[in-house]
Amino acid sequence: STLLLLNGPNLGTLGRRQPEIYGTTTLDEIAGQVAAEVADRGWTVESVQLDGEGELVRAVQDRYDTVGAIVNPGALMIHGWSLRDALAAYPRPWIEVHLSNVWARESFRHESVLSALAAGVIVGLGAPGYRLAARALLDLVPVPDS
Ligand code: DQA
Repeated sequence: STLLLLNGPNLGTLGRRQPEIYGTTTLDEIAGQVAAEVADRGWTVESVQLDGEGELVRAVQDRYDTVGAIVNPGALMIHGWSLRDALAAYPRPWIEVHLSNVWARESFRHESVLSALAAGVIVGLGAPGYRLAARALLDLVPVPDS
C-alpha cells in the first residue's frame, strides 16, 4: 500500500525557502518522517513534488490506487480549480496541509478552493503537520480484514 505525499509549487525548496516562515526541514526529511509514521501499517510513501498545476493534476489521476494522500498545494490553494477537480475525483481520503499559519498571513491566503473536499486541514504547525496528517490517515483508512 502506498500513501501519496503531494506537494505543489515552490515546496521543492523547503529548507532554504524563507526558513523564517517555512522552517529548515527539507521535503526529503518530511517524506522520511511521514514514512516512519506509517511504516507499522506496512505503507510506503511516494513523495511527489511538482511546480505545475497540470503536472499535479496528472499525478493525482495516475494514483487512484494509493491508500490516501497528504496534499500541500502551495499557492494553488487560492485558485487551483483543476487541481480541485482532480482531487474531487480522487477516490481516497486526503488531508490538506500548510506549514505556515495562513490565517495569520496576507488576506489572499485566507481562502482555499480545496479545503471543503479534504477530510481535514492542518495549518500552521510546520513540518510536524505532515506527520500529524499521516497519523490521521491511519485512522481514516480501514485496516483490511486479514
Ligand atoms: C503554504 C502556504 C501557501 O499560502 C503558500 O503559497 C505556500 C506554502 C504553506 O505550506 O504554508 O506555497 O502552502
